[in-house]
Parts: sequence; structure tokens; C-alpha cells
Amino acid sequence: MRELVPVLTKGEIDKKVAEVALKISDDYKGRDLVLVGILKGAFVFMSDLMRCLTVPVQLDFVCASSYGSGTTTSGTIRLTKELGIDIKGRDVLIVEDIVDTGFTLAYLVDYLKSFSPASVKICALLDKRERRGVEIMIDYSCLVVEGGFLVGYGLDYAEDYRNLPEIFHLKL
Ligand code: IMP
Ligand code: MG
Repeated sequence: MRELVPVLTKGEIDKKVAEVALKISDDYKGRDLVLVGILKGAFVFMSDLMRCLTVPVQLDFVCASSYGSGTTTSGTIRLTKELGIDIKGRDVLIVEDIVDTGFTLAYLVDYLKSFSPASVKICALLDKRERRGVEIMIDYSCLVVEGGFLVGYGLDYAEDYRNLPEIFHLKL
């Protein structure tokens, strides 16, 4: 068994999600929003976030793959599920579980902009800074972490641990 060190409890996650949702609802007041979640990791965060938003939302998912089953990015991003709804002229908010090198988001921002949305912003549960390889502006984040490998609340290690309700640092 690998050691799991607690990082955020369910109560702390709920509080951070509610805070970020309040800010988003405020910023987009009077408009409506298309949430684009990045599968698979973001689905837990997105389901909590969307229920805290007070602006009307539509949602879709894309599935981006770069990691295989390891813990370092391959740098090459592949979309295994493309966008399914029309975002032309819409305000889009990308919902991601964790930003590491930033390559996945940089790729997705370009991909989504190719559909001519009115705006594209980023909301990430966790902003992990130590390995950032590309400059990327994260508009909304719940927690900045320096490094390590985190699991739970949707985040996986080789597809395990996604169902844990809290967030842990996995000792590798
Ligand atoms: P990036 O392209 O390097 O920013 O990679 C981001 C993706 O890698 C995220 O969507 C996660 O799926 C995965 N990832 C990066 N760091 C972690 C981590 O600490 N735990 C779990 N998944 C991670
Ligand atoms: Mg992910």
C-alpha cells in the first residue's frame, strides 16, 4: 500500500469550491456560461462547482490524454473526445482538476478558440506550480500547491484513487 498524506478534507474542498463559485457567479452575472470539463479528472470538481453557480450554465466535456499511466507529462496532447456543442459567440469556462506543466490547458485553449467563442477562461481546482512549462493564466483556482502527486476527488494515479472524497498527497 502506498502512503496517502491528507491535503484537503471534504469540508475544506466544499468551502474552496463555494468561494470560487461565488466569484465566477459574480464575474459572469447577467450572462450565461458554457462549462467545458476535462475528462476524466475534472468531473467530480465540475459536478460540485456547477451546483454552486448562480448563473445559467450549459456543459460539455472533452477528453484530453497525455499522461498514460505514469506521473510525468509526455508533452503530446491527444483529444479522445472532442467538443460536442456549439460554443461560437459563447462565454466558455474550462474546468480542470489540476494544472501541472500547463501543456494540456495551452492546447485546449487554442482548440476551443478555434470555434470562435466570445471568451475562454480557466478554472482549476489545483494549481501545481513546480513543473510549469508554458505560461498560462489560470483565472480561478481553489488551491495553489508547490508540488508532489495528488490523488482523490477525481484525481488519479494510474486510474486508481479517483473515488476518494478528499485530496491526498501520494508518496511515490
Ligand atoms: P499538464 O498538461 O502537465 O498541466 O497536465 C495536467 C494533467 O495531468 C491533469 O489534467 C491531470 O490529469 C494530470 N496530473 C498532473 N498532476 C497531477 C497530480 O498531481 N495528480 C493527478 N493527476 C495529475
Ligand atoms: Mg486531467
